[in-house]
Amino acid sequence: MESVSHENRLFAPTSEFAQKAAVSGMDAYRAMYEKSIQDPEGFWAEAAEELHWFKKWDTVLDDSNAPFFKWYDGSRTNLSYNCLDRHVAEGRGDKVAIHWEGEPGDTRDLTYSQMLLEVSRFANVLKARGVSKGDRIAIYLPMVPELAIAVLACARIGAVHSVIFAGFSADSIRDRVLDSETCMVITADGGYRRGKMLELKKIVDEGVETCACVKDVIVVKRGEDHPVDCSMVAGRDSWYHDLVADVSDECPAEEMEAEDLLFLLYTSGTTGKPKGIMHTTAGYQVFSYLTSKYVFDLKQEDVYWCTADVGWITGHTYIVYGIMQNGVTQVMYEGAPNHPDEGRFWEIVEKYKVSIFYTAPTAIRAFMKWGDQWVDGRDLSSLRLLGTVGEPINPEAWMWYHSKIGGERCPIVDTWWQTETGGHMLTPIPGAVPTKPGCATLPFFGVEPAILTDDAKEVDAGILAIKKPWPGMLRGIYGDPQRFKDTYWCKWDGQYYFPGDGARRDEDGYIWILGRVDDVVNVSGHRIGTAELESVFVEHKDVAESAVVGVPHEIKGQGLIAFVTVIDGRDHDDHLRKELVTMIDKGIGKFARPERILFSSDLPKTRSGKIMRRLLRDIAEGKELGNTTTLADPSVVEELQQQYLNG
Ligand code: WTA
Repeated sequence: MESVSHENRLFAPTSEFAQKAAVSGMDAYRAMYEKSIQDPEGFWAEAAEELHWFKKWDTVLDDSNAPFFKWYDGSRTNLSYNCLDRHVAEGRGDKVAIHWEGEPGDTRDLTYSQMLLEVSRFANVLKARGVSKGDRIAIYLPMVPELAIAVLACARIGAVHSVIFAGFSADSIRDRVLDSETCMVITADGGYRRGKMLELKKIVDEGVETCACVKDVIVVKRGEDHPVDCSMVAGRDSWYHDLVADVSDECPAEEMEAEDLLFLLYTSGTTGKPKGIMHTTAGYQVFSYLTSKYVFDLKQEDVYWCTADVGWITGHTYIVYGIMQNGVTQVMYEGAPNHPDEGRFWEIVEKYKVSIFYTAPTAIRAFMKWGDQWVDGRDLSSLRLLGTVGEPINPEAWMWYHSKIGGERCPIVDTWWQTETGGHMLTPIPGAVPTKPGCATLPFFGVEPAILTDDAKEVDAGILAIKKPWPGMLRGIYGDPQRFKDTYWCKWDGQYYFPGDGARRDEDGYIWILGRVDDVVNVSGHRIGTAELESVFVEHKDVAESAVVGVPHEIKGQGLIAFVTVIDGRDHDDHLRKELVTMIDKGIGKFARPERILFSSDLPKTRSGKIMRRLLRDIAEGKELGNTTTLADPSVVEELQQQYLNG
């Protein structure tokens, strides 16, 4: 944060970029933004006109039952239709939708017509297995085309997909499957990561063992060259390739109501239980379409590449729905950025002549660390626009991205948004808004941000709030409307949406995101609730209590430090540490492993027994300790601090 508050370099878009941009210049941006705020319904109706509707809406926004907003009520549409059929009908069927590249180097190109065919076939498989509108389906796949196909096949027939990132553990699968009572899981025998095969089907088997709701498991075969030991459960499991061999190529898209549930995506909050974020059809459709169009300034000749996984919201909106509705060609890559070597991404950019590249700051920091030799000598001249997402980007990484990857000619869109917002909320519009390193700048059309105190006073630095509803907003938390209201709408009496981030507005009116104000930590752009780790630790028989905090990390943005108190008389040593790490791997996934686990006889608490996380953060950041006079037992922090310093 230090370097951010002194940053005032300004980068105007090049005239070459601005001339061709959909929004060329600040005046055009301001005019469009004003219109979107003065007449949001007019603005969002006009945007929706660009898409296909079986029936148009009666009202654009219905806010009569806030915060349960309705968008485009009365309309009927289908996301898969707008991603596929529309392009085929308008003569773009032969255009490549996906250039797919597997980690070992195998490739597949799928045109929009081929995608339509594959999606229709798989949708017919789902129907033949008895899946109907509203049924929940879990998808646990590596980054293979079948992931996008499965997602769109669900949307085509109105089944609700719940994609689970293929780095989550068996326990996480079980919790998500049970919470939404999914009837089917779509997975693969395995997926490649850093040259190894992750055995995904085995993890699914363990996860759904006790889930009576799961009647069907469909398995994509990925391991042709490296056969995976994949046992099939009779009566429950089938191979994807067997099922699609037997069905028709035609499957008309179901006419969905505007507020029909499109998908669930589980994300971390401040409790141990992840929330099933609900996104519905029409509003998400228009928002994902329009943000993609303007934020990436998409042109028909672009080759777009987003390096995120479809297991996170970024992949939902900016690989599948938003990008495919715009009908552009994209690259989809299965594996790690450093396999077989640290130059893989730049090799892919060169090979496919990628023009728009969207990644996470943590990846950029890793590239910086690996050294310029992996970039030098690669032809990156096809690039015209760069983007970042998922966490604040430090100005140093921004400058490296700008000069080394962007050749100082590509605008960088630093996009702030969340699983809950469905799409971009704060971001420069390229070609229009001059950028500053590390700054998400200004709102997207129709988005009205405010920076508030706890009691809703507008300030320059405080808590970020969103004033108006927007079409891509979440519609609820699955099965828990009260938690939806409490988490997002109670902070300022229902007047604003509360995203959970801190922010500051500078003298140009630009907004800088300062990180989370709650107990959610962003590790390598992955959102993790500290309470999730804590609830895993306390399941160990020797653990009395624990507190986990986030600290700055050079590459990951933030890392996790765990403080664990052990029941009196029990051993606390490396053996216990290993057991606890294994429990995190099993309870959440390897990506949630803490950097360090510290043991102590107690945690710093106030006299009323509340754990003082601020002090734990001070210890973990090696800072001088703040006020300790309110502690019940000040010696506890000293002990912890000593231990921390001793490594
Ligand atoms: C953080 C990812 C700063 C933020 C799309 C938010 C960011 C959380 C940015 C959502 C950004 C995302 N600058 N912080 N450009 N983008 N964040 O749900 O704290 O995985 O609340 O969605 O990531 O994470 P989520």
